[in-house]
Amino acid sequence: MGFPKDFLWGGATAANQCEGAWREHGKLDSTADHLTLGSRQIPREFTAQIREDRVYPSHQAIDFYHHYKEDIALFAEMGFKIFRMSLNWTRIFPHGDDAVPNGRGLDFYRDVFQELKKYGIEPLVTLSHYELPYHLAEKYDGWASRKCIEFYLKYCETVFREYRGLVRYWLTFNEINSAILEGNAYFSAGILSAGKKGMSAGVLRQEEESGEGKADRRGEAPVTDGNCKQEKDEEKNRQYNALHHMLLASARAVRLAHETDPNYQVGCMIAGICQYPRTCDPKDMVLAQKTRQNIFWYCSDVQVRGAYPSYIKRLFEEEGIRISMEAEDEEILKTGCVDFYTFSYYSTGCVSADESVAKTSGNMIFGAANPYLETSRWGWQIDPMGLRYFLNEIYDRYGLPVMVVENGLGQDDRLEEDLTIHDSYRIAYMREHIRQMEEAIHDGVNLIGYTPWGCIDLVAASTGEMKKRYGMIYVDVDDHGNGTLKRYRKDSFYWYQKVIASNGEDL
Ligand code: BG6
Repeated sequence: MGFPKDFLWGGATAANQCEGAWREHGKLDSTADHLTLGSRQIPREFTAQIREDRVYPSHQAIDFYHHYKEDIALFAEMGFKIFRMSLNWTRIFPHGDDAVPNGRGLDFYRDVFQELKKYGIEPLVTLSHYELPYHLAEKYDGWASRKCIEFYLKYCETVFREYRGLVRYWLTFNEINSAILEGNAYFSAGILSAGKKGMSAGVLRQEEESGEGKADRRGEAPVTDGNCKQEKDEEKNRQYNALHHMLLASARAVRLAHETDPNYQVGCMIAGICQYPRTCDPKDMVLAQKTRQNIFWYCSDVQVRGAYPSYIKRLFEEEGIRISMEAEDEEILKTGCVDFYTFSYYSTGCVSADESVAKTSGNMIFGAANPYLETSRWGWQIDPMGLRYFLNEIYDRYGLPVMVVENGLGQDDRLEEDLTIHDSYRIAYMREHIRQMEEAIHDGVNLIGYTPWGCIDLVAASTGEMKKRYGMIYVDVDDHGNGTLKRYRKDSFYWYQKVIASNGEDL
């Protein structure tokens, strides 16, 4: 038993959280470039103009753009078989709707892929990871506009053609289901009208009130003065339609990839918003089932099975959501089913019909706390066994090969005077999750790969911090961008190297 011999061990990153090189070699702003530094107490703020007095973490990040050779050499030293990364759309089409691509951007990613190939590392490429050309957000209100589909497909067509023979695995959208979470419209779907409303006065007020213990707020409803019901309903409707456009774009990208190269494998990527019922009270059970359907299964049901699931009609009716379906949409979804399933998994939460139970946070989860679980410093509940549970649920449902493409522990690591980092907590976290993945394989799940998140320290998406580190490689840079950017191997580096070398036996 154990891990299959060709199991894809590796790590994961995203362009806006690691590349830096903002506006270099023709790249223009993406939506991520307009988000300021936040913290667990202070939400990140969207600003329409780049302000001198604010920190924008994506502008420098860990400067992977200029360090990629060194970083890939370190991944190779750990023994990576696969490296998940994303393309920054604005490096290739700076405005998003340009007539021709930017050659410098195409060259950069070709160089990265060639460097990976040198070490026999397979790239796993996310086409869109929480960023959209800012121009598309400004001019078209991001994915709220159907026009974005054509721009996205032009970008896909370009990269599918350019990187034949260098890439095999593609993911269409990172955590596509997060596009419908309240407060996520700008972050996930580039809906600028929401960014402007949800992240202005409300955020500033939060700053003044900030106090310890508040969870990061991505995925929460934005606090605004004029957030009346009608506005909220319109916002929700816009978000669901934006998601519809993303699902159509994803389906067409799958077809395009297969037409371009029959070797291409295209996957969906779902935010692991994994929730249990808080008790066996039937009210909690049904609530948990509904929550899972509406938030966790909904998008992958469309992407894997090629049609909107039956249960979603009720949600649409109850929430007054009207999807603008065009004549060919059903056919597009039907003919663009993905080849494999991927998801992120950090934590689980609970749902409860009883509003008075204690609350918790997690990766986009704000629900009832689970009394059996401990939480990380950022308040995310740690649940290795839940990974086995959800892997079984996913594989039973779809029967497609599965990859866990994000998982890890965000912690404030300390660089010791002797330049070591003793992150035994991260090793413990990963060890338990890997054990449970092995159990899932024994259960019969066709798990083909594991790319823990932020294998090299990078900017946190929810807070914009550097100090919330996930890496097995430490990068000397702080929240404000100060530091040497030097890379250091953590204890987990050597541990993971051993895990990969033994194909998961030596934990
Ligand atoms: C996932 C995202 O939701 O969670 C990543 O795909 C993100 O982009 C990761 O970085 C961890 O969240 P955070 O906020 O700790 O960076």
